[in-house]
Amino acid sequence: MIRFENVTKIFSRGTIPAVSNLNIEIPEGTICCMVGPSGCGKTTSMKMVNRLHSITEGKIYIDEVDNSTIDPISLRLDIGYVIQEIGLFPHMTIADNVATVLVEKKWPKQEIGKRVDELLELMGLEPKIYRQRRPSHLSGGQRQRVGVARAMAANPPIMLMDEPFGAVDHIARVRLQNEFLTLQEKISKTIIFVTHDIDEAIKMGDMIAVMREGKLVQYSTPEDLLSTPADEFVANLVGGNRSIKRLHLIRVSEILNRKVATVNMSDTLEAAKKHVIENAFNVVYVVSDTGVLNGFIGKVELKQEGEFVKDVYRSYPEIISDEATLSDALSVMLSNGESYVPVVDDFEHPLGAVSLEDVFKAVRQDD
Ligand SMILES: Nc1ncnc2c1ncn2[C@@H]1O[C@H](COP(=O)(O)OP(=O)(O)OP(=O)(O)O)[C@@H](O)[C@H]1O
Ligand SMILES: [Mg+2]
Repeated sequence: MIRFENVTKIFSRGTIPAVSNLNIEIPEGTICCMVGPSGCGKTTSMKMVNRLHSITEGKIYIDEVDNSTIDPISLRLDIGYVIQEIGLFPHMTIADNVATVLVEKKWPKQEIGKRVDELLELMGLEPKIYRQRRPSHLSGGQRQRVGVARAMAANPPIMLMDEPFGAVDHIARVRLQNEFLTLQEKISKTIIFVTHDIDEAIKMGDMIAVMREGKLVQYSTPEDLLSTPADEFVANLVGGNRSIKRLHLIRVSEILNRKVATVNMSDTLEAAKKHVIENAFNVVYVVSDTGVLNGFIGKVELKQEGEFVKDVYRSYPEIISDEATLSDALSVMLSNGESYVPVVDDFEHPLGAVSLEDVFKAVRQDD
């Protein structure tokens, strides 16, 4: 738990406060998104938590302990920090970057190596390939993953993430967001997550703190922020299209109710035909021996030459996980010109499908 109590930060006397009388409480295991225009005090608020900035007035409590009584060095080692603009050390390898805190904490060398590999794997970066690379040999998205891995290295219960996915394009960002949310379900960290992007805040936050010129304007759930913005500033920030924004709040798993039958590669087309006719989208999923979704057979494929499923099946351009939001699902359907999208689990085993109609229904029910 992190609690700000009447926290004010004034950098130099006579200037207006960078943060003014801030009061928020972030319960254990939840994500608080801090959002607001450039210069509104997001980074400053965060840096007072791990004492990179001193507090001018007020207190910050971490699990009921006043953080000004905690040694700053050990405080920083126990709080994961993803720095704005990533901030990897350019002359160090990826492995050494990730290991920074572990070295400070004097972990045995072997344990460090093991943990670094584990983290790189967790972040989808094959250790054998990336361990010895330099940051400049990574893409923006990969560097952000390393930044997150470094902050998570010593498994800190609290993480401060300052625009952790700010430096990547929209598609990579959506992927990183989804992966991080899936991870958070397992690791349940207490997180302050700073972003410029209100859509990102709505998607990632259990609670959202909207700041303006150092002051907290609204602190509420994403739902309340969209339905009852505190003032015109917040209303403008969340903007129009609020029902579209609500698509970010609903996960595919919450509305998934369409099953699709499956056939194997070695099944005959005759066997597939029955399922295609019966299914609402006129498709049957094609799975591998291990149950992985490889593609589909629809009416067009049925008409093609061939005796077996493997002769005519086609693969999907895109599939989504049940952790994805309805907004992700809609975007895939629109970009592929399809009225449905296949949904799979972590192992890419099919769970069903979500259709345009399902998305419409979910938004209407939410109204
Ligand atoms: N070290 C510093 N010394 C003096 N003033 C500072 C310092 N750091 C930040 N400020 C001022 O405090 C205010 C808040 O800055 P802060 O970095 O917290 O903004 P931010 O919300 O993180 O903005 P951004 O979205 O651009 O990162 C700004 O007016 C900034 O100029
Ligand atoms: Mg900042």
